[in-house]
Amino acid sequence: MDRVLITGGAGFIGSNVALKLIAKGYEVTVLDSLSEQIHGVNPEETSPLYRNVKDKVNFIKGDVNSREDWMKALEGVSYVIHLAAETGTGQSMYEIKKYVDTNIGGTALLLDILTNTKHSVKRVVVAESRAIYGEGKYRCLKCGDVYPLERKDEDMQKGDFECKCPKCGGPVELVATTEDSAIHPSSVYGIAKQVQGQLVHLVCKSIGVESVSFRYQNVYGPGQSLSNPYTGILSIFSTRIKNGNGLNIFEDGKETRDFVYIDDIVDATILGMEVPEANGHVFNIGTGVATDVLTVAQTLCEKYGIQVPIVVSGNYRLGDIRHNYADITLARNILGFEPKWDFSAGIGEFCKWVDGQAVQKDNYDASIAEMKAKGLYK
Ligand SMILES: NC(=O)c1ccc[n+]([C@@H]2O[C@H](COP(=O)([O-])OP(=O)(O)OC[C@H]3O[C@@H](n4cnc5c(N)ncnc54)[C@H](O)[C@@H]3O)[C@@H](O)[C@H]2O)c1
Ligand SMILES: [Zn+2]
Repeated sequence: MDRVLITGGAGFIGSNVALKLIAKGYEVTVLDSLSEQIHGVNPEETSPLYRNVKDKVNFIKGDVNSREDWMKALEGVSYVIHLAAETGTGQSMYEIKKYVDTNIGGTALLLDILTNTKHSVKRVVVAESRAIYGEGKYRCLKCGDVYPLERKDEDMQKGDFECKCPKCGGPVELVATTEDSAIHPSSVYGIAKQVQGQLVHLVCKSIGVESVSFRYQNVYGPGQSLSNPYTGILSIFSTRIKNGNGLNIFEDGKETRDFVYIDDIVDATILGMEVPEANGHVFNIGTGVATDVLTVAQTLCEKYGIQVPIVVSGNYRLGDIRHNYADITLARNILGFEPKWDFSAGIGEFCKWVDGQAVQKDNYDASIAEMKAKGLYK
């Protein structure tokens, strides 16, 4: 059976993809640096995700910025699923070099090796992100389909959070973001994800290796880090609720995201690796449904049976987007992908899992203080 290299294979998505591939009979190599922000100081104890996979895969603790580590990891590999990345959108706005080095630099190094050395790789699958669409796709009654620019600080200060038509300045209506939507990321993370996808498709084509990329929406589910305060709104809220701390809902609470359950992401990713017709394509993966953040907060409190104060504060973070949900027609048509979990079913599973976990230390206030100090939090 073919060997698959999963970079970031100790992480949330990667570890779940690894377990599914093993169940399907593949051999799996994982290259992961066991980043402390994700796995804690002593991964053997602090990282259940790592523990889930470490004995089932050929585990290489290493860095995507190291040529030597890549060379070791690529031995005998037919497919590369490149997921290793720095993943905090807000954090990327001040840790700029780290985000560019790991996300773009790591991908560049992989492609450099595939181009200049002998290897057995047939296809590279890479994670982009919905972040590359920035504010996403909208419709203006006068101007048709439009792609609003980043929202203005002066509007948000007045509590006006909605996107405006970039052509006439008028009101716009949210529509599903298709893959051919304008690409205009509003964070360093988004820029790096865009470039990762572009590099993989361009270079792989030129050397006769197949390529597939995914723009995942907001992924959630059992196993996601409950201690990383930089990413994953469901985790951040859950950890606050379990500590009895109130929730500060940004903006007016009506901002939305397309929350997609981990099992659906795993299925889509493996289809992207296996389906021959996927070659050369970019796929959105989400549920195609938008859920607002206030509803998320209220649902979590209900499910945990813990009522903490929920304050819709009007605070906001530069780089955050207002709304988004994916058009997943292409993944349906080419991959045969169909999400099996809607938000209410998925959040139920997630909360059941959180209920069985030790309550994590709530580091959220410190992460907000960090953003405030950099002028990125208002
Ligand atoms: N989770 C989401 O909602 C989401 C949405 C869109 C895109 N993505 C993308 O999917 C991929 C996986 O995301 P995830 O949620 O599983 O994140 P994660 O943080 O759980 O996993 C990332 C893994 O990469 C590893 N890593 C970080 N830097 C590394 C380096 N320099 N060398 C080797 N390994 C390194 C980390 O230790 C971690 O195990 C990422 O590329 C992310 O950008 C995720
Ligand atoms: Zn207009």
